[in-house]
Amino acid sequence: MLASGTWGWGENLNKFLSLEEIKTSIGALVTKGISLKPREGNPPPRISEVPCGLINFIGLENPGIKDFKTKYLGVIKAYGVPVIVNLYGESIEDFVILAKELKGEVSGLELNISCPNVEKGGILFSESPKLVRELVTKVRKVWDDFLAVKLSPFGPVFEVAENCKKAGSDALVVANTYPALKVLNLNPLKILKGGLSGPAIKPITLRLVWELSQKLTLPIIGCGGIITGKDVLEYLFCGAKAVQIGTANLINPKSVSIIMKELENIHIG
Ligand SMILES: Cc1cc2nc3c(=O)[nH]c(=O)nc-3n(C[C@H](O)[C@H](O)[C@H](O)COP(=O)(O)O)c2cc1C
Repeated sequence: MLASGTWGWGENLNKFLSLEEIKTSIGALVTKGISLKPREGNPPPRISEVPCGLINFIGLENPGIKDFKTKYLGVIKAYGVPVIVNLYGESIEDFVILAKELKGEVSGLELNISCPNVEKGGILFSESPKLVRELVTKVRKVWDDFLAVKLSPFGPVFEVAENCKKAGSDALVVANTYPALKVLNLNPLKILKGGLSGPAIKPITLRLVWELSQKLTLPIIGCGGIITGKDVLEYLFCGAKAVQIGTANLINPKSVSIIMKELENIHIG
């Protein structure tokens, strides 16, 4: 799958990959986080490279659910690949309304719980297993199709994961980015705080996938630092049932197709 936020809005996908390549190498397109209202995101700089990775501070820029449905969803669906919409909400009610808006329109939902619950004083959903259980239970009531929760890699991850299972989530996406900081300039000091992704996070996320798969029976979709076919196999051998590819798309938009070819030619032994 192509991970949320790393392949634009679908308008350029066929400029880099043929329709054949898209259909044979992409299991699902996971959209950038969609919220009820449009969000402009943060002012620049909002992305910067670090050794073996990338820090992003995009701030969940998106057109909002209405424009997403009228202007973008059609383009994405035209590729003929299952579409999973990543949802961003500031309250449980936001997520429920978003899920209702998408009923019958797409193959699945991915709940991004690495966002603040404004109603509960700005606490991140991912910091409260109880809140996550309530969130998943309420979305499950209005959504019959595939439902995944995208975990934050920090906080009470195991309790959150268990509650996702109890509340009826079909799978877990493990995981989102890690809080990080880059010094852009020493004097005057200028920093970029954001989420770290790319090969730098692979060993940490891989360990999380391993630990969670030992403890839970819920299917895990591994996501973090996958660049090569061997990275995919490592995730699958450590307990993931599927994978998502993010930052690799920003390095080379043909990455998924190259990774698939590498997988076909890998010899394990
Ligand atoms: C530029 C950028 C934007 C992202 N936007 C979102 C987003 O909107 N929602 C979300 O859940 N994850 C978002 N992510 C996180 C990725 O989907 C993925 O979980 C993370 O980057 C780790 O995978 P990777 O190392 O393969 O990139 C974003 C990542 C990047 C680099």
